[in-house]
Amino acid sequence: MTDVTRAKIGTPAVSATNVRKAFGSKEVLCDISLTINHGEVVSLIGPSGAGKSTMLRCLTLLDTFDAGRLCYGDIEVCAPSVGTDGSETKAEYSKKAMREARMRFGLVFQNFNLFPHFSVLRNVCDAPISVQKRNSQEVEAEARKILDELGLTEHADKVPCQLSGGQQQRVAIARALAMNPDVLYFDEATSALDPKLTADMHALIRRLAGEGMAIGIVTHEMGFAREVSDRITFLFDGQIVEEGPAQQVIDNPQDERTQRFLAHSVD
Ligand SMILES: Nc1ncnc2c1ncn2[C@@H]1O[C@H](COP(=O)(O)OP(=O)(O)OP(=O)(O)O)[C@@H](O)[C@H]1O
Ligand SMILES: [Mg+2]
Repeated sequence: MTDVTRAKIGTPAVSATNVRKAFGSKEVLCDISLTINHGEVVSLIGPSGAGKSTMLRCLTLLDTFDAGRLCYGDIEVCAPSVGTDGSETKAEYSKKAMREARMRFGLVFQNFNLFPHFSVLRNVCDAPISVQKRNSQEVEAEARKILDELGLTEHADKVPCQLSGGQQQRVAIARALAMNPDVLYFDEATSALDPKLTADMHALIRRLAGEGMAIGIVTHEMGFAREVSDRITFLFDGQIVEEGPAQQVIDNPQDERTQRFLAHSVD
């Protein structure tokens, strides 16, 4: 961990404030706010259709919020524009800020989205070289170090289909880490792993958070969320109805909707 990263622990790596999103007349995110600090692991849970993936898609700029503010550290990606009558209207995005913000986060998709015809090493090196325009030798040396840390050295020259699901997942994580992000998001990326791999994932996420990374997780696995997260946010019908320390929210939920959801979630 660099001193710069250490100094950032506890400060916001990403914050969405009073954000809204609708599809047609259906409001999917209704004025919600979420911050993840450097060094913090936050899980977003809630029933199907609650808006978790929509939130994650907007946070990772695969989609846009209709209203509200989104900041990555000191970069303001969108902010409410103010109408002539002084009322706040649509969120206005800055193209330049979007480009800069894209360097600050990584996303591990549910299906990993690896390039099938690229080797593991090339999958990891591609974005830092082509998007961040970094020196290829330097990137490769760093990528080999990350692969080594994730136990993937012997697989560097294989293509994804030659790897197991757990190995592919680690390649997807290596690829995100190669961008040296402030924030790492996981979208259901821990589903269908065996207990050993889940434990490894837990250790890795806690280590990254310890180094100052902010981690955002969308998951249906309550046991995993309880163990790995500092904080859990429960989303219901586009609203945050409960938020708090992970064990408190899972073991002793206060809101009736959270109680009902947890009573029915099988782990
Ligand atoms: N592109 C879209 N167009 C129209 N409606 C959409 C679109 N994407 C999502 N929705 C709707 O928005 C709501 C929230 O969907 P979202 O995918 O965010 O839920 P989720 O919490 O991720 O659910 P799950 O746990 O099933 O993954 C749903 O009612 C969904 O039908
Ligand atoms: Mg979803």
